[in-house]
Amino acid sequence: MPPAPAGGRDTTKRKEHPPVSHDIKDPGLAAKGNDRIEWAAKSMPVLELIRERFEKEKPLKGLRLGLCLHVTTETASLCRTLAAGGGEVHLCASNPLSTQDDVAAALVEIDHIPVHAIKGEDNDTYYRHIHSVLDIRPHITMDDGADLLSTLHSQKPGLIQGVLGGTEETTTGVIRLRAMAAEKALKYPVVAVNDAMTKHFFDNRYGTGQSTLDGIVRSTNRLIAGSVFVVCGYGWCGRGVAKRAAGMGARVVVTEVDPLKALEAIMDGFDVLPLAKAALSGDFFVTVTGDVNVIRPEHFRAMKTGAIVCNSGHFNVELDLDGLAAIAESRRQARDFVEEYAIKGGPTVYVLGEGRLVNLAAAEGHPSSVMDMSFANQALAAEYVNQNQGRLPLDVFPVPEALDHEIARLKLKAMGYEIDVLTPEQVEYLASWKTGT
Ligand code: ADE
Repeated sequence: MPPAPAGGRDTTKRKEHPPVSHDIKDPGLAAKGNDRIEWAAKSMPVLELIRERFEKEKPLKGLRLGLCLHVTTETASLCRTLAAGGGEVHLCASNPLSTQDDVAAALVEIDHIPVHAIKGEDNDTYYRHIHSVLDIRPHITMDDGADLLSTLHSQKPGLIQGVLGGTEETTTGVIRLRAMAAEKALKYPVVAVNDAMTKHFFDNRYGTGQSTLDGIVRSTNRLIAGSVFVVCGYGWCGRGVAKRAAGMGARVVVTEVDPLKALEAIMDGFDVLPLAKAALSGDFFVTVTGDVNVIRPEHFRAMKTGAIVCNSGHFNVELDLDGLAAIAESRRQARDFVEEYAIKGGPTVYVLGEGRLVNLAAAEGHPSSVMDMSFANQALAAEYVNQNQGRLPLDVFPVPEALDHEIARLKLKAMGYEIDVLTPEQVEYLASWKTGT
């Protein structure tokens, strides 16, 4: 019997197709990428259900979709879903270090989806790739960090008129967009996919938790058990990272600027310290604050030799690496994704993944099972934007609650769980104010 085609798609019998525009590392990686995409898709049942419906209903027919997302196996499943819905999908990376080159190759060679993304691309290439996506004059923009939308607004405002709306995947992007909306600079409606419960409650917490630890372990092979693990920021991502580090046996220290979050971290069982004090004892440091220059030269100087420092926030701004370089007497690449900085008269510390999000730079990002819900939200949000043309607020607004709940219901079903339903008496009780003690 001939061997089964890779991942169920017969990549040997490709239909003739005119070449699609692309800038990727190596089209020869397509078969490997396709196998990995198919592997990930097995853990994305909700997106698969949406893909099957999209295939029949074609809700995105005639739309050009510009995507600026991490180019991963999970994003490939989203691209396939949007294309099944009739959308013309164009993809570039939302981070210079997060692209999986084999996935980019599979999308170009097998799906004929134009991709402009290469792992390790420099800043100019990164923005050239964003412009390649803008050049298609998208009807819908799909962002992770808002670089596509902000470049469109600032450098190609002539395209705004043709855009129906956008979607935004991440906390940092939503914060940026809300700042634009507050200044009345936002010129088309955007769905804050990040704010869906089925997104941030799971992806930001369990996804970032697991994948951040994965990136640290893959790049360093250091033992987490028995270490002092400093988590800067106790938002949803910080909560997830702290929980997973503790689960692996670390003593977790949280640093915060928000008194409520600091209290929550204490009651979750973690130590809370100012970073200047935590710097003295930490073995690992992870920033997940969304803010700039969180770990600065004075903190690096106070660290122990051997300290591992990384970032899992969206942008590479949380570690002051220019400041670190200025106080270092030497720097070298110690391992893949590990850079050694020997500080003059101070410790030698190690920075992972150039301070870019360590879970995507040094590992594969969040596991597929959690991206299933995030990208189900993206697909349904795109459909919603199309269905509600001209009726959407010129603002950043949430995924409709009904869609959010539907995704949770489908995910539970796919996981094989059943839950109870309210009795009529309970429904009535909840709706009434008359009954007390
Ligand atoms: N963001 C975090 N993890 C991701 C993944 N696996 N794919 C796409 N975007 C991500």
